[in-house]
Amino acid sequence: MIFCFSGTGNTRYVADKLHDELGDDVLRLPPGMMKRPELINVNVTDGRVIWAFPVHCWAPPHTVSKVMRRATITSDTPLTHHLVCTCGDDIGYADRVWLSIVKKRGWTAGHIASAQMPNTYTSLPGFDIDPKEVADAKIEAVGDRMKAIAADIESGMWGVDVVRGSYPWLKTRMLYPLFRAFLSSTGPFHTNDQCQGCGRCARNCPMTSIQIVNGKPVWAKDCNVCMRCYHCCPTRAVEYGPFTKGKGQFICPGFSIKQ
Ligand SMILES: Cc1cc2nc3c(=O)[nH]c(=O)nc-3n(C[C@H](O)[C@H](O)[C@H](O)COP(=O)(O)O)c2cc1C
Repeated sequence: MIFCFSGTGNTRYVADKLHDELGDDVLRLPPGMMKRPELINVNVTDGRVIWAFPVHCWAPPHTVSKVMRRATITSDTPLTHHLVCTCGDDIGYADRVWLSIVKKRGWTAGHIASAQMPNTYTSLPGFDIDPKEVADAKIEAVGDRMKAIAADIESGMWGVDVVRGSYPWLKTRMLYPLFRAFLSSTGPFHTNDQCQGCGRCARNCPMTSIQIVNGKPVWAKDCNVCMRCYHCCPTRAVEYGPFTKGKGQFICPGFSIKQ
C-alpha cells in the first residue's frame, strides 16, 4: 500500500506511477486522518508500505511524521516500509528523519529513494517555481525514474538512492528547525486585492484548515504549508508574507483541483 500525501500533485503523480508499476493501492492521506493520526488503523495485505510525500525544508512534512508516529498499521505477514519522496532539488537528510521514525516504531525499513519534480516552494526570497521547460523535463524524466525505483523495490536489493545535495546536515538539522519555528505557521498567509472570495483555497486545502469568513479565507493553525492554496488560486490572490509577491503558480498536470 502506498501512503501518499501531496500538496500540489507531484507526489500523487509519482504514487500513481508506482501503482502502475507495482499494483499497490494508493491511500491518499485525507484531512481527517492527517488531523487525528491516532485514529488511523490500516491493515496492509500486500507486505509493504511505501511512504510517498514531498520533502519540506529537507525533512518530511511534519504532519506526515505525526502520522508515522501515531498511526496503527497492521499486517498478517511481515511488513517492510519503503520511502519514495519528491523534491524540487535535493532532500538533505529527510530520509534519515523518516528512518529514525521507522526504527522507533520497530518497523523494518526497505528501499529509500527520491525523485525530482517541479519545485513548489515560493515562500522565501530567491525561491520560485521552475521555468516551464525545466518543470516539463522533470515530469518527463520521472516515468523512467519510477520504473527503476519500482524494480528496486520488487527486487529486494534495497539501498539508499537519493539526491542529498550539499550540506545535508546543516539543512536538515539547522535550517529545518528554523523553518518549523518561523516559516511554517499560517500567520503570514493573507490575500491581496485580487481575492474574489471564491473559496477554491478552502475547498482544496488537504488539511481542511481554511474557512471563508466575510468573503475572505482565514487560515487555522493546523497546516502543512504545502502551498496548495497559493498554487490553486484562480486570481493569484493568496500570499505568504511579502515573499510570494509576483511569483509563479504550479499544479502538477492531471492533479484534480476542485473548482
Ligand atoms: C514548504 C515546502 C518546502 C519545500 N522544501 C524543499 C526542500 O527542502 N528541498 C527541495 O528540493 N524541494 C523542496 N520543496 C519542493 C517540493 O518538495 C517539491 O516541489 C515536491 O515535489 C512537491 O510535491 P507535492 O506537489 O506532492 O506537494 C518544498 C516545497 C514546499 C511547499
